[in-house]
Amino acid sequence: MQNRSGPDGSGRFGALPPSPFVRLRALLDDVTPAQAPVSLAVGEPRHAPPPEVLQALSAARDSYAKYPPIDGTAQWRSAVAGWLSRRFDLATDVLDEATQILPVNGTREGLFMAAQIAPQKPDGVVLMPNPFYQVYAAAALCAGAQPVYLPTTAATGHLPDLDALAPELLARAQAFYFCSPANPQGAVADARYLARLLELARAHNFLLVVDECYAEIYDQTPPPSALQLMQASGDNDLPLMVFHSLSKRSNLPGLRSGFCAGGRSVMAAMAALRAIAGPQSPLAVQHAAALAWSDDAHVHENRQKYREKFTAAETIFAGAYDFYRPAGGFFLWLNVGDGEAAARHLWASQGVRVLPGAYLARHDARGDNPAHSYIRIALVDEQETMMAALKRLKDGLESYNLGTKGAA
Ligand SMILES: Cc1ncc(COP(=O)(O)O)c(C=O)c1O
Repeated sequence: MQNRSGPDGSGRFGALPPSPFVRLRALLDDVTPAQAPVSLAVGEPRHAPPPEVLQALSAARDSYAKYPPIDGTAQWRSAVAGWLSRRFDLATDVLDEATQILPVNGTREGLFMAAQIAPQKPDGVVLMPNPFYQVYAAAALCAGAQPVYLPTTAATGHLPDLDALAPELLARAQAFYFCSPANPQGAVADARYLARLLELARAHNFLLVVDECYAEIYDQTPPPSALQLMQASGDNDLPLMVFHSLSKRSNLPGLRSGFCAGGRSVMAAMAALRAIAGPQSPLAVQHAAALAWSDDAHVHENRQKYREKFTAAETIFAGAYDFYRPAGGFFLWLNVGDGEAAARHLWASQGVRVLPGAYLARHDARGDNPAHSYIRIALVDEQETMMAALKRLKDGLESYNLGTKGAA
């Protein structure tokens, strides 16, 4: 039974480690925290979602009696197209909203499906950053391709070094997953970098999948979208698919609502696959999502709250643990020496739950995990809770450092 895939980890998905949160439970479950627990481990926004969106959801409950259209309602498509043109200055004729925008039930499932429509190649690979959002690797394996993890460290500006990619590797690439703002590091790719990626996709015939879920959470400059390349090139048939979500933008991770948009042929292939195998987004969800995409005021408020929390974190951590204020996203990425050991200590001594960076990355060819020395901290709670938690984090890291120095 060589090809058996199963929860025991054999078969096609055998190369996948358990989810980072399963690993975190295994790391911490035998430890009793000394203080009341607070979790900074999960990227689940805890600011309130817009109330009118929740009201719209319950007002539309009769629609659960119907199958929803897989390609989205006209109201939903036009709300998304409106947001794209407001947020990214996209002219309305860049994307045909009837055929080049599709709803997904949370971007995670759409990201998984994207690799399945990419070109197939002998000895195919799917390129992705390392560390990375875990679904990219599962998507690659399901598409029958080998995931190739590209180092994204402080030395590379937390983005893959495109000059380091060998032409032989690029020739085997079926898809390239890319994330900006990046989870976990918060690095943002500029328009030139995105154009370079697209150039590679065209030259080597692979699908460029750009995960822009954190595009609305930024510090100074609004991150650009790869969709702007369609406008710049005047070509709406690029090998490009971009993902956006309401989970982070509108604090609605439970709504499971996002979209993908991209080049004409790519989106036609995605629509064809989804028409058979895709999960439709419920009508009530599409209705509520249309309201959320049509409103920017709550997003502005949300962004301000994150900025305030980063300012607070800066006063606490500046100058320590390689602290930097990320250009986008809502994570702190701290270099603490040994992420797993620090996470255990923080949990035991302070009841603070953080994610070891290593759980978001894979070992490189030399056996080194590029995120081994990091922890990821999600600044998702409201300011007051966050301040108290960050103080505990600081105390915990100080006592961890004292302990490691004492042990050395
Ligand atoms: C980088 C990145 N992409 C995609 C997602 C998935 O978001 P959702 O499925 O809620 O839209 C997440 C969620 O944490 C993420 O961090």
